[in-house]
Amino acid sequence: LHRGQGVIRRWRGWLPEIPEQAVAELGEGDTPLVEATRLSGRVGARVYLKLEGLNPTASFKDRGMTVAMSRAAAAGRTACVCASTGNTAASAAAYAARAGMVCFVVVPAGKIALGKAVQVLAHGAEIVQIEGNFDAALRLSRRAAEELEHVALVNSVNPDRIEGQKTAAFEVCEALGRPPEALALPVGNAGNITAYWKGFTEWQRAGRAAGRPRMLGFQAAGAAPLVAGHDIESPETVASAIRIGSPASREGALRAVRESGGLIESVTDAEILEAQDLLAREEGVFCEPASAAGVAGLLKLAREGRAPAGTAVCVLTGHGLKDPDAVLSRVRLPEPVPATFEDVARRLGA
Ligand code: F0G
Repeated sequence: LHRGQGVIRRWRGWLPEIPEQAVAELGEGDTPLVEATRLSGRVGARVYLKLEGLNPTASFKDRGMTVAMSRAAAAGRTACVCASTGNTAASAAAYAARAGMVCFVVVPAGKIALGKAVQVLAHGAEIVQIEGNFDAALRLSRRAAEELEHVALVNSVNPDRIEGQKTAAFEVCEALGRPPEALALPVGNAGNITAYWKGFTEWQRAGRAAGRPRMLGFQAAGAAPLVAGHDIESPETVASAIRIGSPASREGALRAVRESGGLIESVTDAEILEAQDLLAREEGVFCEPASAAGVAGLLKLAREGRAPAGTAVCVLTGHGLKDPDAVLSRVRLPEPVPATFEDVARRLGA
């Protein structure tokens, strides 16, 4: 029904003002919500997957980027900057190209998944690799945007990003006909959990639903400042997208958890990779490691007898093709065989 319309045109009345001529969109949003029957069996709840990897640049970032970039263009900015673990950079690069703006992305050197780096280069953005982590990159990007008047900051500390991303909550409610009992998602810089909570809250206030879901946020064990209660100086995890030690939207995340009776907990790298593998093999859904953190969290809650009752939605934030190394590190391409029927048949188990 709404396919290809884009977040701004679909949800205009819920978003800040954007003049029509400034709209930079790529038909983002309106992503599938698919039921995961095998996962549901394992968790003991009705589990749905929100496939945010099916956005134009293959992550949820596009929802917020269309709003932030359009508003920056409308305000007369000619360039943008962001810090990123990869997906924000890929999305900013694409939407800046669309808006005719110059794009600078500041990233931790050598720490960006291959697919994301390739996207940034393909769109012609300027990559600034720093000898530091995401948290340092965000500090530097904020300062650059403060001091250079023509440059807009398009990280999720820009409220326009949150406004765009909240539309995913509206879609979940529409697809189910009501809010789910629980929403599970990975937490890095904590913009997305903040955005979903804002979306569910506005939906309820508008009289569209009676309640709101419990928010279940999951961080990687080596990068879990919200679980530890303090910043982590050198965050480490295989889930490079959420390798963040000092989340900018910490307050938004804590409010979501408090007001919803939810939780923020951690999952190990092994649990994350196991969930990624299970989604791919049992559900046919390929997401990047960070995106599997919500599913890993639900499985952990189920093992401990704490699974949510009713319907749970897991947000799969980014596509698996973003990070080929994550799979290649555990699955090898087998050696070639001679091109004879006998050799092929042997491989087929004959
Ligand atoms: N999942 C993926 C695939 C991400 O790329 C991110 C964040 C998150 C989850 C966490 O979302 O930060 O709003 O809590 N990626 C940012 C980036 C940091 O630079 O691409 P969050």
